[in-house]
Amino acid sequence: MNIYFDNAATTPIRKEVITTISDVMEDCFGNPSSTHAYGRKAKTHIETARKVIAKQINAVPNEIIFTSGGTESDNMILHCAVKDLGVKRIISSPIEHHAILHAMDALDKLLGIKISYVKIDSNGVIDLDDLESLLKNDESKTLVSLMHINNEIGNMLDLVKVGNLCHKYEAFFHTDAVQGIGHFTFDMESLPIDFLSAAAHKFHGPKGVGFSFVRKNSGLQPFIHGGAQERGLRAGTESVHNIVGMCKALELAYENLDIERQKVLEVKTYFIDQITSLFPTVKFNGMCNDLSKSTYTLVNVALPIPKDKSLMLDFHLDLNGIACSKGSACQSGSQSGSHVLKYVRSEQLEDWPSLRFSFSILNSKKEVDYLIQVLKDF
Ligand SMILES: Cc1ncc(COP(=O)(O)O)c(C=O)c1O
Repeated sequence: MNIYFDNAATTPIRKEVITTISDVMEDCFGNPSSTHAYGRKAKTHIETARKVIAKQINAVPNEIIFTSGGTESDNMILHCAVKDLGVKRIISSPIEHHAILHAMDALDKLLGIKISYVKIDSNGVIDLDDLESLLKNDESKTLVSLMHINNEIGNMLDLVKVGNLCHKYEAFFHTDAVQGIGHFTFDMESLPIDFLSAAAHKFHGPKGVGFSFVRKNSGLQPFIHGGAQERGLRAGTESVHNIVGMCKALELAYENLDIERQKVLEVKTYFIDQITSLFPTVKFNGMCNDLSKSTYTLVNVALPIPKDKSLMLDFHLDLNGIACSKGSACQSGSQSGSHVLKYVRSEQLEDWPSLRFSFSILNSKKEVDYLIQVLKDF
């Protein structure tokens, strides 16, 4: 049996999306910047996709800038906020994705941008009082970048509270919503968010394509220089088939959201019950076993397995056809462990192996039963 429990890393592409992509590849190879019929056809595909994507999140089409994915979107927003909006300080958290953490380091090194990290508690929950005092105590132009759903532990941020707080102190608010778009609804007209990042491969779309939401009249200038694509903000010939594929994937995600969310949530809830029966002392990292404060798509568990055996756990799961993600890279001999777990795991549990299981509509309770049996046999 082969089981894929690593949907936070990437998701399988839906069949309908593959069909859409290959139809576009066959039917429309023109360069969208060309003015002849081939080019116009490609351009129409892109602009239709932009309109449809904008509609799905209640934005306006020119607030959607196509990129190569989450990493580029994150880098674009951070760099442009500094370059074009006079941002001198970025407030973020130590448990963001490396696309944010390393981009901030680069901005600090290159331009001396001040980086502040908001306090988090032992479950990785952002301390909003600390965020407020950081915002209050420094008047330099600030961008706050905090992720919507943490990709390792599943914690969910209250976007409205954080956005309102940022705006109260005239700071910009960016959220990395790579794990949220396609899984939760977004109403960009009413949400207090200035910038947002998304990636298609996290919602059953293709890899290498995503988008930035950039609120209109924000004043951002080009990030990648060259041609006039993406309203001059992001040069380079557009990946037409991928953009259309992303659009199809997002449409399908939102069309079926309620039913699919319920099914995935049932798998997660069942997983929590079963793993707790097998290991009554199991520790859930972060807030992932609190269904109101975490995404329905993932769990991160520290298992009470002796240190000498835990090194073999990854091999055992892999040999039995189960794909999940190590909560801590240490176990496979890597030098550095997860930067997220470093903050949320107590010292006593450092020897316990942590694993992230992340689910999609393609998973079932039967697969959880198989996993539990494989763990019992370990
Ligand atoms: C929260 C988050 N941000 C950013 C990224 C990077 O996205 P991409 O792989 O599309 O560059 C990921 C991917 O793992 C992610 O989970």
